[in-house]
Amino acid sequence: MAKAKTRTAVLISGRGSNLAALIAAADNADFPAEIALVLSDRADAKGLDLAREHGIPIAAIDKARCGTKAEIEMQFDTALRDAGIELICLAGFMRILSAHFVESWRDRILNIHPSLLPLFPGLKTHERALEAGVRIHGATVHFVRAEMDAGPIVAQGAVPVLDGDTPEHLADRVLGIEHRIYPLALDLVASGRAKVQGERVIIDSTTMAPDAALLSPPD
Ligand code: GAR
Repeated sequence: MAKAKTRTAVLISGRGSNLAALIAAADNADFPAEIALVLSDRADAKGLDLAREHGIPIAAIDKARCGTKAEIEMQFDTALRDAGIELICLAGFMRILSAHFVESWRDRILNIHPSLLPLFPGLKTHERALEAGVRIHGATVHFVRAEMDAGPIVAQGAVPVLDGDTPEHLADRVLGIEHRIYPLALDLVASGRAKVQGERVIIDSTTMAPDAALLSPPD
């Protein structure tokens, strides 16, 4: 019998283009994860419409109305556990989770961040990459730890920084690679081919090329 798909929740705050990439990947019969729940901390998040269109259960727990951080996280936790969620993907979820929440889901939360971590944690990553004059920029999918934008790295995708780039142009190029690395990282983790060992991610190289988790720009 085929292994059951990993029940995965995607947490969003806005547009949901990474959610769209994950839903598209999970539509493939061979993909090892199913998107079983979409949660948002904003009732007006655009990505919720996308989940509705795909018939995916949603829950919006609006931070403006729902009390303290601990109370909101408790509601998230209940929704996740009630839905039998095994893995959480943060996809443009703009809220810092408490150490308590992160520890209670240890090694079961992934996040996508628009930079090549550990460079440029936090906000305005594209502006900061341009200011720093780096020639390569990109995106990272990592397991979440209590420190912001830190944790074992599953996959990274690199893009060139071109002369004359604006933060918007660079953001578009990075978003393109985000949509490729998040499905790749979820595939690796849900299938058990990427595992945390001693705060690094080890990829099972008997079934994959050892550099399978790096997408780099073409020559
Ligand atoms: C993405 O670029 C994602 O990397 C970023 O927010 C955007 C969400 O877009 N996340 C962070 O900055 C988290 N630190 P989306 O809603 O279209 O997926």
